[in-house]
Amino acid sequence: MHGIAGKVAFVTGAASGIGRATAHRFALGSACVVIGDIDPTRDRVAEELRAVGGEAIAMHHDVADEASWEDAIERTLQAYGRLDILVNNAGLTASAPIADMSIAEWRRVMAVNLDGVFLGTKHAVAAIRRHGQGGAIVNVSSTSGLVGSPTASAYCASKGGVQLFTKAVALECAAERIARQLGPSRSRADTHLGNGRRMAGTDGAGGESGRSVAGARGHDAVRARGRAGGSGRRHLLPRLRRIALRHRERARRRRRLQRDLAGC
Ligand SMILES: NC(=O)c1ccc[n+]([C@@H]2O[C@H](COP(=O)([O-])OP(=O)(O)OC[C@H]3O[C@@H](n4cnc5c(N)ncnc54)[C@H](O)[C@@H]3O)[C@@H](O)[C@H]2O)c1
Repeated sequence: MHGIAGKVAFVTGAASGIGRATAHRFALGSACVVIGDIDPTRDRVAEELRAVGGEAIAMHHDVADEASWEDAIERTLQAYGRLDILVNNAGLTASAPIADMSIAEWRRVMAVNLDGVFLGTKHAVAAIRRHGQGGAIVNVSSTSGLVGSPTASAYCASKGGVQLFTKAVALECAAERIARQLGPSRSRADTHLGNGRRMAGTDGAGGESGRSVAGARGHDAVRARGRAGGSGRRHLLPRLRRIALRHRERARRRRRLQRDLAGC
Protein backbone atom coordinates (compact mmCIF):
# COMPACT_ATOMS: atom_id res chain seq x y z
CA MET A 1 0.00 0.00 0.00
CA HIS A 2 1.30 3.40 -1.01
CA GLY A 3 2.68 5.81 1.58
CA ILE A 4 2.38 3.87 4.83
CA ALA A 5 5.64 1.90 4.82
CA GLY A 6 7.51 2.53 8.06
CA LYS A 7 4.64 4.51 9.60
CA VAL A 8 3.39 3.64 13.07
CA ALA A 9 -0.33 2.90 13.11
CA PHE A 10 -2.48 2.30 16.19
CA VAL A 11 -5.81 0.55 15.56
CA THR A 12 -8.39 0.40 18.35
CA GLY A 13 -10.79 -2.52 18.60
CA ALA A 14 -8.45 -4.47 16.34
CA ALA A 15 -9.09 -7.92 17.81
CA SER A 16 -11.87 -8.51 15.29
CA GLY A 17 -13.87 -7.29 12.33
CA ILE A 18 -12.97 -4.07 10.55
CA GLY A 19 -10.22 -3.25 13.06
CA ARG A 20 -8.49 -6.55 12.48
CA ALA A 21 -8.82 -6.23 8.69
CA THR A 22 -7.44 -2.67 8.90
CA ALA A 23 -4.47 -3.89 10.96
CA HIS A 24 -3.80 -6.54 8.31
CA ARG A 25 -3.82 -3.92 5.54
CA PHE A 26 -1.37 -1.74 7.47
CA ALA A 27 0.94 -4.70 8.08
CA LEU A 28 0.82 -5.62 4.37
CA GLY A 29 1.83 -2.03 3.62
CA SER A 30 4.89 -2.43 5.90
CA ALA A 31 3.60 -0.17 8.67
CA CYS A 32 4.34 -0.95 12.34
CA VAL A 33 0.96 -1.85 13.79
CA VAL A 34 -0.29 -1.54 17.37
CA ILE A 35 -3.32 -3.72 18.05
CA GLY A 36 -5.41 -2.30 20.91
CA ASP A 37 -8.49 -4.04 22.31
CA ILE A 38 -10.12 -5.14 25.55
CA ASP A 39 -10.52 -8.59 23.99
CA PRO A 40 -7.46 -10.86 24.55
CA THR A 41 -7.86 -12.14 20.97
CA ARG A 42 -5.75 -9.07 20.14
CA ASP A 43 -2.61 -11.14 20.93
CA ARG A 44 -3.58 -13.69 18.30
CA VAL A 45 -4.08 -10.94 15.72
CA ALA A 46 -0.59 -9.57 16.41
CA GLU A 47 0.81 -13.09 16.01
CA GLU A 48 -1.03 -13.45 12.67
CA LEU A 49 0.58 -10.24 11.44
CA ARG A 50 4.06 -11.25 12.58
CA ALA A 51 3.59 -14.68 10.97
CA VAL A 52 3.20 -13.01 7.56
CA GLY A 53 6.28 -10.86 8.12
CA GLY A 54 4.50 -7.82 9.55
CA GLU A 55 5.69 -5.74 12.51
CA ALA A 56 3.02 -5.71 15.22
CA ILE A 57 2.45 -5.57 18.95
CA ALA A 58 -0.77 -6.02 20.91
CA MET A 59 -1.86 -4.39 24.13
CA HIS A 60 -4.85 -4.29 26.44
CA HIS A 61 -6.52 -0.99 25.74
CA ASP A 62 -9.91 0.34 26.80
CA VAL A 63 -10.90 3.30 24.61
CA ALA A 64 -13.35 4.60 27.21
CA ASP A 65 -10.65 5.04 29.84
CA GLU A 66 -8.28 8.04 29.65
CA ALA A 67 -5.57 6.38 31.77
CA SER A 68 -5.61 3.46 29.33
CA TRP A 69 -5.05 5.90 26.43
CA GLU A 70 -2.11 7.55 28.23
CA ASP A 71 -0.57 4.15 28.88
CA ALA A 72 -1.18 2.91 25.30
CA ILE A 73 0.36 5.98 23.65
CA GLU A 74 3.34 5.84 26.01
CA ARG A 75 3.93 2.17 25.21
CA THR A 76 3.61 2.84 21.49
CA LEU A 77 6.23 5.58 21.70
CA GLN A 78 8.51 3.30 23.72
CA ALA A 79 8.14 0.50 21.16
CA TYR A 80 8.36 2.49 17.92
CA GLY A 81 9.46 6.00 18.88
CA ARG A 82 6.54 7.80 17.21
CA LEU A 83 2.89 7.69 16.24
CA ASP A 84 1.73 8.54 12.71
CA ILE A 85 -1.72 7.05 12.34
CA LEU A 86 -4.59 6.36 14.72
CA VAL A 87 -7.69 4.48 13.61
CA ASN A 88 -10.46 5.02 16.16
CA ASN A 89 -12.36 1.89 15.18
CA ALA A 90 -13.57 0.31 18.45
CA GLY A 91 -17.32 0.49 18.70
CA LEU A 92 -20.43 -1.25 19.91
CA THR A 93 -24.15 -0.94 19.52
CA ALA A 94 -27.24 -1.39 21.65
CA SER A 95 -30.64 -2.19 20.28
CA ALA A 96 -33.62 -1.06 22.34
CA PRO A 97 -36.83 0.91 21.78
CA ILE A 98 -36.32 4.38 23.20
CA ALA A 99 -38.87 3.89 26.01
CA ASP A 100 -36.89 0.85 27.20
CA MET A 101 -33.38 2.24 26.79
CA SER A 102 -31.69 2.48 30.18
CA ILE A 103 -29.34 5.33 30.96
CA ALA A 104 -26.63 2.75 31.71
CA GLU A 105 -26.94 1.27 28.21
CA TRP A 106 -26.98 4.75 26.62
CA ARG A 107 -23.83 5.73 28.54
CA ARG A 108 -22.08 2.47 27.63
CA VAL A 109 -22.53 3.19 23.92
CA MET A 110 -21.49 6.83 24.32
CA ALA A 111 -18.46 5.89 26.43
CA VAL A 112 -17.00 3.62 23.76
CA ASN A 113 -18.22 5.22 20.51
CA LEU A 114 -17.94 8.90 21.37
CA ASP A 115 -15.80 9.39 24.50
CA GLY A 116 -13.38 6.83 23.03
CA VAL A 117 -13.03 8.83 19.80
CA PHE A 118 -12.59 12.09 21.72
CA LEU A 119 -9.92 10.63 24.03
CA GLY A 120 -8.08 8.93 21.18
CA THR A 121 -8.05 12.04 19.01
CA LYS A 122 -6.91 14.22 21.92
CA HIS A 123 -3.97 11.99 22.87
CA ALA A 124 -3.00 11.11 19.30
CA VAL A 125 -2.91 14.77 18.19
CA ALA A 126 -0.44 15.44 21.03
CA ALA A 127 1.70 12.41 20.08
CA ILE A 128 1.70 13.27 16.34
CA ARG A 129 2.64 16.87 17.13
CA ARG A 130 5.81 15.61 18.84
CA HIS A 131 7.44 14.77 15.49
CA GLY A 132 5.79 17.64 13.60
CA GLN A 133 5.49 15.73 10.31
CA GLY A 134 1.72 15.42 10.28
CA GLY A 135 -0.23 12.22 10.41
CA ALA A 136 -3.69 10.78 10.15
CA ILE A 137 -6.50 10.15 12.57
CA VAL A 138 -9.28 8.08 11.07
CA ASN A 139 -12.50 8.10 13.08
CA VAL A 140 -14.79 5.27 12.06
CA SER A 141 -18.37 6.45 11.91
CA SER A 142 -21.28 4.78 10.14
CA THR A 143 -24.12 5.44 7.76
CA SER A 144 -26.11 5.39 11.03
CA GLY A 145 -24.36 8.67 11.83
CA LEU A 146 -26.07 10.18 8.79
CA VAL A 147 -29.49 8.52 8.83
CA GLY A 148 -31.56 7.29 11.75
CA SER A 149 -32.52 3.66 12.39
CA PRO A 150 -35.32 2.53 14.68
CA THR A 151 -34.20 1.07 18.05
CA ALA A 152 -30.65 2.28 17.43
CA SER A 153 -30.96 5.78 18.90
CA ALA A 154 -27.84 5.56 21.07
CA TYR A 155 -25.73 4.14 18.24
CA CYS A 156 -27.01 6.73 15.73
CA ALA A 157 -26.46 9.59 18.21
CA SER A 158 -22.91 8.43 18.94
CA LYS A 159 -21.97 8.02 15.26
CA GLY A 160 -23.56 11.36 14.32
CA GLY A 161 -21.44 12.86 17.10
CA VAL A 162 -18.32 11.26 15.61
CA GLN A 163 -19.07 12.90 12.24
CA LEU A 164 -19.28 16.46 13.55
CA PHE A 165 -16.58 16.02 16.16
CA THR A 166 -14.24 14.92 13.38
CA LYS A 167 -15.14 17.85 11.13
CA ALA A 168 -14.53 20.32 13.97
CA VAL A 169 -11.12 18.85 14.84
CA ALA A 170 -10.21 18.60 11.14
CA LEU A 171 -10.64 22.36 10.80
CA GLU A 172 -8.80 23.03 14.06
CA CYS A 173 -5.72 21.00 13.04
CA ALA A 174 -5.78 21.48 9.25
CA ALA A 175 -2.64 23.63 9.15
CA GLU A 176 -0.60 20.93 10.89
CA ARG A 177 -1.39 18.27 8.26
CA ILE A 178 -2.86 16.00 10.89
CA ALA A 179 -5.63 14.43 8.88
CA ARG A 180 -8.88 13.09 10.08
CA GLN A 181 -11.22 11.13 7.93
CA LEU A 182 -14.61 9.71 8.62
CA GLY A 183 -14.89 6.13 7.49
CA PRO A 184 -18.53 5.14 7.48
CA SER A 185 -18.28 1.43 6.86
CA ARG A 186 -21.00 -0.54 5.16
CA SER A 187 -23.03 -3.40 6.52
CA ARG A 188 -21.56 -5.71 3.88
CA ALA A 189 -18.69 -6.02 6.37
CA ASP A 190 -18.91 -9.49 7.86
CA THR A 191 -18.22 -8.63 11.49
CA HIS A 192 -19.69 -9.25 14.92
CA LEU A 193 -21.28 -5.84 15.01
CA GLY A 194 -22.29 -5.86 11.35
CA ASN A 195 -24.06 -9.17 11.81
CA GLY A 196 -25.85 -7.93 14.91
CA ARG A 197 -23.83 -10.31 17.06
CA ARG A 198 -22.17 -7.51 19.02
CA MET A 199 -18.83 -9.00 20.04
CA ALA A 200 -20.27 -12.47 20.32
CA GLY A 201 -16.83 -14.07 19.97
CA THR A 202 -17.16 -15.08 16.32
CA ASP A 203 -14.45 -14.49 13.80
CA GLY A 204 -15.59 -11.51 11.72
CA ALA A 205 -13.35 -10.60 8.79
CA GLY A 206 -14.41 -7.05 7.86
CA GLY A 207 -12.30 -7.18 4.67
CA GLU A 208 -13.83 -4.49 2.41
CA SER A 209 -14.18 -1.93 5.16
CA GLY A 210 -10.72 -2.67 6.50
CA ARG A 211 -9.30 -1.86 3.09
CA SER A 212 -11.16 1.45 2.89
CA VAL A 213 -10.22 2.51 6.43
CA ALA A 214 -6.55 1.67 5.95
CA GLY A 215 -6.60 3.53 2.64
CA ALA A 216 -8.09 6.66 4.18
CA ARG A 217 -4.87 8.02 5.67
CA GLY A 218 -2.47 10.67 4.49
CA HIS A 219 -2.80 13.65 2.25
CA ASP A 220 -6.02 12.52 0.58
CA ALA A 221 -7.57 12.72 3.98
CA VAL A 222 -6.04 16.15 4.59
CA ARG A 223 -7.61 17.42 1.40
CA ALA A 224 -10.88 15.69 2.19
CA ARG A 225 -10.99 17.58 5.48
CA GLY A 226 -13.39 15.33 7.31
CA ARG A 227 -15.56 14.31 4.39
CA ALA A 228 -17.11 10.89 4.51
CA GLY A 229 -15.01 7.86 3.55
CA GLY A 230 -13.56 7.43 0.09
CA SER A 231 -16.21 9.69 -1.44
CA GLY A 232 -14.57 12.85 0.00
CA ARG A 233 -12.04 13.16 -2.78
CA ARG A 234 -14.56 12.48 -5.50
CA HIS A 235 -16.73 15.41 -4.36
CA LEU A 236 -13.80 17.64 -3.56
CA LEU A 237 -11.97 17.61 -6.89
CA PRO A 238 -14.80 19.12 -9.00
CA ARG A 239 -15.31 21.69 -6.24
CA LEU A 240 -11.62 22.65 -6.26
CA ARG A 241 -11.72 22.95 -10.05
CA ARG A 242 -14.74 25.28 -9.85
CA ILE A 243 -12.98 27.41 -7.20
CA ALA A 244 -9.81 27.59 -9.35
CA LEU A 245 -11.86 28.67 -12.40
CA ARG A 246 -13.61 31.36 -10.37
CA HIS A 247 -10.25 32.69 -9.13
CA ARG A 248 -8.86 32.78 -12.67
CA GLU A 249 -11.95 34.63 -13.96
CA ARG A 250 -11.70 37.20 -11.14
CA ALA A 251 -7.97 37.76 -11.84
CA ARG A 252 -8.76 38.27 -15.56
CA ARG A 253 -11.45 40.85 -14.71
CA ARG A 254 -9.06 42.63 -12.32
CA ARG A 255 -6.36 42.86 -15.02
CA ARG A 256 -8.91 44.17 -17.57
CA LEU A 257 -10.06 46.80 -15.07
CA GLN A 258 -6.46 47.85 -14.35
CA ARG A 259 -5.77 48.18 -18.11
CA ASP A 260 -8.94 50.25 -18.57
CA LEU A 261 -8.00 52.49 -15.63
CA ALA A 262 -4.45 52.93 -16.97
CA GLY A 263 -5.90 54.02 -20.32
CA CYS A 264 -8.09 56.72 -18.73
N1 LIG B 1 -19.82 -3.90 10.66
C1 LIG B 1 -20.55 -2.96 10.10
O1 LIG B 1 -21.40 -3.22 9.24
C2 LIG B 1 -20.35 -1.52 10.51
C3 LIG B 1 -21.14 -0.55 9.87
C4 LIG B 1 -20.93 0.79 10.22
C5 LIG B 1 -19.95 1.14 11.13
N2 LIG B 1 -19.23 0.17 11.76
C6 LIG B 1 -18.24 0.61 12.74
O2 LIG B 1 -17.01 -0.03 12.50
C7 LIG B 1 -16.32 -0.22 13.73
C8 LIG B 1 -15.89 -1.67 13.89
O3 LIG B 1 -17.05 -2.48 13.85
P1 LIG B 1 -17.01 -4.06 13.60
O4 LIG B 1 -18.20 -4.37 12.79
O5 LIG B 1 -15.67 -4.47 13.12
O6 LIG B 1 -17.28 -4.57 15.10
P2 LIG B 1 -16.68 -5.78 15.95
O7 LIG B 1 -17.64 -6.00 17.07
O8 LIG B 1 -16.31 -6.93 15.09
O9 LIG B 1 -15.33 -5.13 16.51
C9 LIG B 1 -15.34 -4.14 17.48
C10 LIG B 1 -14.12 -4.31 18.34
O10 LIG B 1 -14.11 -3.25 19.31
C11 LIG B 1 -13.65 -3.80 20.52
N3 LIG B 1 -14.08 -2.98 21.65
C12 LIG B 1 -15.32 -2.83 22.17
N4 LIG B 1 -15.28 -2.02 23.24
C13 LIG B 1 -13.99 -1.63 23.37
C14 LIG B 1 -13.31 -0.77 24.29
N5 LIG B 1 -13.96 -0.18 25.31
N6 LIG B 1 -12.00 -0.57 24.12
C15 LIG B 1 -11.32 -1.19 23.12
N7 LIG B 1 -11.90 -2.02 22.24
C16 LIG B 1 -13.22 -2.23 22.37
C17 LIG B 1 -14.27 -5.20 20.57
O11 LIG B 1 -13.60 -6.05 21.50
C18 LIG B 1 -14.11 -5.63 19.13
O12 LIG B 1 -12.90 -6.32 18.92
C19 LIG B 1 -17.27 0.24 14.84
O13 LIG B 1 -16.93 1.55 15.22
C20 LIG B 1 -18.62 0.22 14.16
O14 LIG B 1 -19.53 1.11 14.74
C21 LIG B 1 -19.41 -1.16 11.45
